[in-house]
Amino acid sequence: MDHGFWEERWQRGEIGFHQPHIHAQLQKFWPGLGLGKGSTVFVPLAGKSRDMAWLAERGHMVIGAELSETAVRAFFDESSLTPTVRSSGAFQIFESGPYKIYQGDFFELPAESLRSVAACYDRAALIALPPAMRTQYARTLAALLSGEVQILTISIEYPEGEIKGPPFSVPAGEVKALFSDEFEISILEERDALAASDNLKQRGVTKLSETAYLLRRRA
Ligand SMILES: C[S@@+](CC[C@H](N)C(=O)[O-])C[C@H]1O[C@@H](n2cnc3c(N)ncnc32)[C@H](O)[C@@H]1O
Repeated sequence: MDHGFWEERWQRGEIGFHQPHIHAQLQKFWPGLGLGKGSTVFVPLAGKSRDMAWLAERGHMVIGAELSETAVRAFFDESSLTPTVRSSGAFQIFESGPYKIYQGDFFELPAESLRSVAACYDRAALIALPPAMRTQYARTLAALLSGEVQILTISIEYPEGEIKGPPFSVPAGEVKALFSDEFEISILEERDALAASDNLKQRGVTKLSETAYLLRRRA
């Protein structure tokens, strides 16, 4: 899954993963994290997700990481914001109001970029990556995020082999294998998501569940 794959999808508008509405499990479970206003949230592989706007409306500063410049520019356009843009190493950093988006490769984020982060919200980031990259993703996230961090992760599961990812099916056993060395993992909710996913139904998925996990760093 090289970088060109994603930029091409953005340029062709093949972004069936993008949701115009706020994710229901974010709205349901975020308050339970008990974060204060002004705390910083990291959104990896952010796309142009409106969930970032919802988090900002709750009083958070939002740091995103997104490969595609098309996606980052679309996020600010659709938020009616004109960001400042500067280069920093391998990244362009787009900033406006509560948002700071690193446009570039998540795996190259500098260690200092996420020091202030209190929580992380992963929707369609882990499941966007093929198996070998998921291991690297979990390691990188654990290394970049500081001590007390909490992560709300939303993953999907569908019958093995029904479609060629992304999105990939990442069952609970794999979430545990990836993160349990560093994090305590609780399942908050598992729900049937097929009816709401026309995109995956059309691609041939016959059964789909979506699970919200809360990861808290082990003491
Ligand atoms: C399935 S989409 C999900 C976007 C967003 N989380 C959402 O819920 O709409 C995955 C996104 O990750 C981005 N991406 C893929 N690999 C990346 C990487 N290595 N670093 C940063 N972004 C990446 C893609 O461009 C794409 O926008």
